[in-house]
Amino acid sequence: MQLISDQIAGYVERSSWIRKMFEEGIALKKQFGEDAVCDFSLGNPDLPPPASVKDALLELAEDADKPFFMGYMPNFGYPDVREKLAAVVSKEQGVSVPADCLVITCGAAGALNSVFRATLGPGDEVITPTPFFVEYGFYCENHGAKLVPVPARELTFELDLDAMDKAITDKTRVVLINSPNNPTGAVYSREQLEGLAAILEKHNQGRERPIILLADEPYRFLAFDGVEVPSLLDIYDYSVVCSSFSKNLSMAGERIGYACINPAMPGKEALIGGVTLTNRILGFVNAPALAQKLLGKVLGSTVDASVYDARRKAMASILDNAGYEYTMPRGAFYFFPKAPGGDDVKFCASLTEEKVLAVPGTGFGRPGYFRLAFCVSEDVILRAKDGMAAAMAKYK
Ligand SMILES: Cc1ncc(COP(=O)(O)O)c(C=O)c1O
Repeated sequence: MQLISDQIAGYVERSSWIRKMFEEGIALKKQFGEDAVCDFSLGNPDLPPPASVKDALLELAEDADKPFFMGYMPNFGYPDVREKLAAVVSKEQGVSVPADCLVITCGAAGALNSVFRATLGPGDEVITPTPFFVEYGFYCENHGAKLVPVPARELTFELDLDAMDKAITDKTRVVLINSPNNPTGAVYSREQLEGLAAILEKHNQGRERPIILLADEPYRFLAFDGVEVPSLLDIYDYSVVCSSFSKNLSMAGERIGYACINPAMPGKEALIGGVTLTNRILGFVNAPALAQKLLGKVLGSTVDASVYDARRKAMASILDNAGYEYTMPRGAFYFFPKAPGGDDVKFCASLTEEKVLAVPGTGFGRPGYFRLAFCVSEDVILRAKDGMAAAMAKYK
């Protein structure tokens, strides 16, 4: 007897890498104790939310007995929160974004799905560089579309613009990029993004439906060494930014984010209206009331990014010490080194033997590499030194 569809049964199989590492982690921790295992498998931010979050929650509790305190609101979100969000997004993007270009969503994931639902039809294609956040494929297929992975350059993971150009077909509806990137830590330069925009403009000639350039940006706040994270809003008119407060406020479980439709997009009203509607009909209805009100009070604060930078440096020194080949992440909290020996699945098994948990690149559509998430305490990183060296030694 099969209770779930063939498609979902296949997904359960396909999405098993992070879950597999998660389960192995639980088993190892049970066997050897929490402190013996160095778990770099999950991208769940461990820093507590900024102090302003607790203060705001206490303030909000005072109003909890008022009518409609947690009632429905317009599907695009509370108008006052949208106004405040517009000021913050304008500052981050360096482009003036009016409130009516924003739809408040259930995280970046909710934003991506709402934009996809509004723009994709059956058989449409979404191009994204590999490796990529593993959920993208599922999100596309949620709406009958297909993800078309295009390999980014080896080791640096810069965009391969020629390859992206060649991958565009009549069915291409969206190009999806994520910078700072999960799982590589790459940050695309202005030059790369302008190059991509020029390619899309070339393909848009004579098309009825222009290609949407979708920027998934939950890690925008986390760029190291002063590197610029250019805004697509002043590079390409048909761009949309999806983002969230999962990482910069450590509020991943609260499911709060937004879609920002480029104010310069010709005919943008249709897309804003479409995304407002899809936010509703996908069953989200609206982003959670309490999370929106909280956001209205804490917008502008972030976790201390310097903590992540210190961890990045600690991890880099462990990788250097053991002789791993990698590109230093310029943003987000992930390393994506080459798997010694070339077989990422086998190498991650070697790491597990050393009680170090990492995710094979295969899980992100890029075999030959593995991902280490450094949203864990520096202590855990330092403890991994011997295990990382011992696993490497097996392949030398
Ligand atoms: C690249 C990327 N996009 C989207 C998401 C989803 O973020 P949210 O929790 O805001 O839905 C994540 C979460 O890890 C991510 O890494």
